[in-house]
Amino acid sequence: MTRGRERNGVPRYTLTAIALHWLSALLIVAAFVLGMTMVDIPGITPTKLKYFSWHKWLGVTVFALACLRLLWRLGHRPPPDPASMPAWQRGAAHAVHWALYGLVFAVPLSGYFYSLAAGVPVVYLGVLPLPVLIAPDPQLKETLQGVHYALNMAMAALVVVHLAAVIKHQWIDRDRLLARMLP
Ligand code: HEM
Repeated sequence: MTRGRERNGVPRYTLTAIALHWLSALLIVAAFVLGMTMVDIPGITPTKLKYFSWHKWLGVTVFALACLRLLWRLGHRPPPDPASMPAWQRGAAHAVHWALYGLVFAVPLSGYFYSLAAGVPVVYLGVLPLPVLIAPDPQLKETLQGVHYALNMAMAALVVVHLAAVIKHQWIDRDRLLARMLP
């Protein structure tokens, strides 16, 4: 397992990890905002259907990136925590990171199975039909709609905690932790 790289003696993430992190973050925010917007459009309009498709494609891309990130993570250890960090903060940071890893899989999967349970197979970018793994099921559809929403809210809450920690490190501890995740 490799340990990331260093610049001026400061350990940092590899460029692959940095690219995967920021691309995932951008697409997750886009999928989240689009998801919240599209469900509020009344009735069934061409715009609504278009947003649903874009939302699903974004989500499937997030899932694919999550697979790549997990593969990267299994082969690389992230740079070590700053020595000044108390044990409880290390524990909390690692718990939030692993929970976010779980959610970048669980959120798209719940949306994917919701779509299948609703009887709408997913055609990635309008050209690649993805596997239809379950039959339409109205009751499961109801459940998965709530699950997709709840997992999204959990992810949003953890992202807020994650951002609060970045702000604390950057402007209170001033330990330049953010620089490790910047190119
Ligand atoms: C990171 C990935 C994803 C994020 C952040 C995300 C986020 C959201 C959000 C915030 C909503 C609105 C929930 C509500 O207010 O009820 C939503 C709804 C929805 N999502 Fe996702 N989603 C993701 C992935 C997916 C995927 C991969 C699919 C399917 C392939 C999908 C299918 C849907 C559908 C069909 C709805 C509409 C639910 C309804 O009709 O109430 N999502 N999503």
